Amino acid sequence: MSNKSAPSHTPVLLSEALQALAVQPGGRYIDCTLGGAGHATAILDKSSPGGQLLGIDADPKALEAARERLQNYRDSALLVNGNFADLQAICLKYDFFPVHGILFDLGLSSLQLNNAGRGFSFQQDAPLDMRFSPDQKVSAADIVNAASEAKLARIIKTYGEESYSNRIARNIVDERPFKTTRQLASVIEKTIGRRGKIHPATRTFQALRIAVNHELENLESALRQAVDLLGYEGRLVVISYHSLEDRIVKQFMRTESRDCICPPSTPTCVCDHTASLRLINKKVITPSAVEVKSNPRSRSARLRAAERITEQDDCCEVIDEPVFSTIVRTRGWRRPVLLQKIRTVFLAA
Ligand SMILES: C[S@@+](CC[C@H](N)C(=O)[O-])C[C@H]1O[C@@H](n2cnc3c(N)ncnc32)[C@H](O)[C@@H]1O
Repeated sequence: MSNKSAPSHTPVLLSEALQALAVQPGGRYIDCTLGGAGHATAILDKSSPGGQLLGIDADPKALEAARERLQNYRDSALLVNGNFADLQAICLKYDFFPVHGILFDLGLSSLQLNNAGRGFSFQQDAPLDMRFSPDQKVSAADIVNAASEAKLARIIKTYGEESYSNRIARNIVDERPFKTTRQLASVIEKTIGRRGKIHPATRTFQALRIAVNHELENLESALRQAVDLLGYEGRLVVISYHSLEDRIVKQFMRTESRDCICPPSTPTCVCDHTASLRLINKKVITPSAVEVKSNPRSRSARLRAAERITEQDDCCEVIDEPVFSTIVRTRGWRRPVLLQKIRTVFLAA
């Protein structure tokens, strides 16, 4: 059924993701990172007949390409240009919850990486942009040209796990302003030289992209929201591509799968925490050698999955307060009306 004419991005850990999501006919799924719609197409095929998919992407260009690819699924796919940090608000707006599964395939697609104009890669010379969405105010050039040396060093160290962060930050400050990716990459190369196979600018570019797009904060917030949107036994599946993301996912799933999160030294439990998830895979899932060979971009992928083990009706209690306020403000609904609406949708599902 898929439209083969649109350019595509090879989906990573595809069969593993479908299995972890336990995709079933008639199920409702959210793809929070639609990208080239590779995972989305497979979810729609496997959930047919009767399956529904809400696909979200922050990048309007990615969404347009996905819309073209999914044109044969118009009746079962709802595509939304938005940030998964607003996941609950998006699902409330479209009455799309509870769902059987939610997928995050983090980072950026090959289409974005290979698009010279986006500034994600130093392989092509382009303006230092790196924003997923043109609505975001701050680009990579803004950070590189305006942040203090200390702030730059912190970004590069924290988000790039770069040991030479101080040296790189000092030279960036000395050499700025920067306009393009190649300018920046060449200063980094001059600063720390080439060692090994990885280009010396790789970690700094990753750090800037994470900072520009608030990737880690958005992920933390979205994971919390996602659990509330899952129905009983609904699946949460996350594919990450670097250790910072994977650490957040691992810690979140571990914490949410425990009944007590008190420090081990506490003699009796005082945390009142109850597990909302059950881990599907205790060990992280990584791509096979065959997949890495055919799609080298998959080599750093790590998949984690968990299943919701609490009933749905407690969702009403935990919807984020800011989400309520946003909807009340933008839709003009009074809070009791909104709560009633949420209950109606849950009971009808
Ligand atoms: C790795 S690609 C997804 C590829 C997709 N699974 C496929 O099979 O084609 C990640 C996508 O997530 C999008 N993205 C990244 N952060 C996002 C966010 N906070 N909200 C919404 N979309 C985001 C990017 O724009 C990109 O298109």
